Amino acid sequence: MFLPLFLRNFVGKKGTKLHEMADFAAIIEHWYGQNKRALPWRETTNPYYIWLSEIILQQTRVEQGRSYYERFVSAFPTVQALADASEEQVLLLWQGLGYYSRARNLHKAAQQIAAHGSFPSDYKSLLSLPGVGPYTAAAIASFAYGQPYAVVDGNVFRVLSRYFGVETPIDSTDGKKEFKALADELLDKKRPSFYNQAIMDFGAVVCKPSGADCSLCPLSDACVAYAQNRVQQLPVKEKKLLQKTRWFSYVYVCTDKEDVLITRRIKDDIWKGLYEFPLIESEEELPLTSFLHHFPKGEWRLLRQGFVHQLTHQHLVVNFYRLQLPQKDSSLPGIWVKKSELQNFAFPQLLVKLMDIVS
Ligand code: ADE
Repeated sequence: MFLPLFLRNFVGKKGTKLHEMADFAAIIEHWYGQNKRALPWRETTNPYYIWLSEIILQQTRVEQGRSYYERFVSAFPTVQALADASEEQVLLLWQGLGYYSRARNLHKAAQQIAAHGSFPSDYKSLLSLPGVGPYTAAAIASFAYGQPYAVVDGNVFRVLSRYFGVETPIDSTDGKKEFKALADELLDKKRPSFYNQAIMDFGAVVCKPSGADCSLCPLSDACVAYAQNRVQQLPVKEKKLLQKTRWFSYVYVCTDKEDVLITRRIKDDIWKGLYEFPLIESEEELPLTSFLHHFPKGEWRLLRQGFVHQLTHQHLVVNFYRLQLPQKDSSLPGIWVKKSELQNFAFPQLLVKLMDIVS
């Protein structure tokens, strides 16, 4: 068998034998055959459903993603139905999943597919859809069409880096290339869908980020990380997550007739297109006196101080105020709605939580 350079390195440096590489796929597939999780998107080869599930499952755990998947399939049974929906409907159904650009891209891509007339069936066309990167294109190509593309997601990085003892950072250019080449080499070309699902499930269930029970792992005999006691050190990441703290003051402007002022977020960030209450954002904590003059006279109350909401890269500290006005004030930017109508608008999860305070 031709041995690419990177594999020669593996054989030389880590002592991994070629037959062990063949065993790798066989062991993973055997494990999967006996331990496969029954998940609704595994019962279909419909590319629309598979695409939907993969977009939902990016950055979302299977347990959480499952109910969203079921709600999307039932609300939008076809790609045409999704394309015909409004962005607001899609965002509302997505509420609580986070990373809302996924929902906006999903909707945009559905419109492109509907306009084109059929779901793309080759890797390159899949890759051209908004929100579809190499991982998702490989997942759709293999699960829906049985094409030989290896998936490389967080689970795959973890399993490969540990088993082969690869220390190249997974977020570096070299690392991405190296892991992709290794994944391509290991892929079972006869059943790419089965193998891809198997390695992802293996990473999610056995070779977990922390608390992996290696004594029960069918790959532990030849696992470099296990042999060298480095399971927790792999995979390696180059860039540390930079945590930023932001201070938010939200103002729940209302009247005693249950009118509430909401605004739509147009800023191009994770919450673009969602609704919120008037917001004063800053890099440090702001006292009420610094923004009070932007609002009409009314009765102020601090409902919650220092409410913390953690996003992946951001630590949000929120003060939540209520401003009660004698009547609606049309000079304020935004839309006046009834409090009972708030559920018809998509809000960031942080605000859904804070809304419980005023309900
Ligand atoms: N995570 C991402 N895609 C998945 C899939 N198809 N099954 C299980 N977990 C996943």
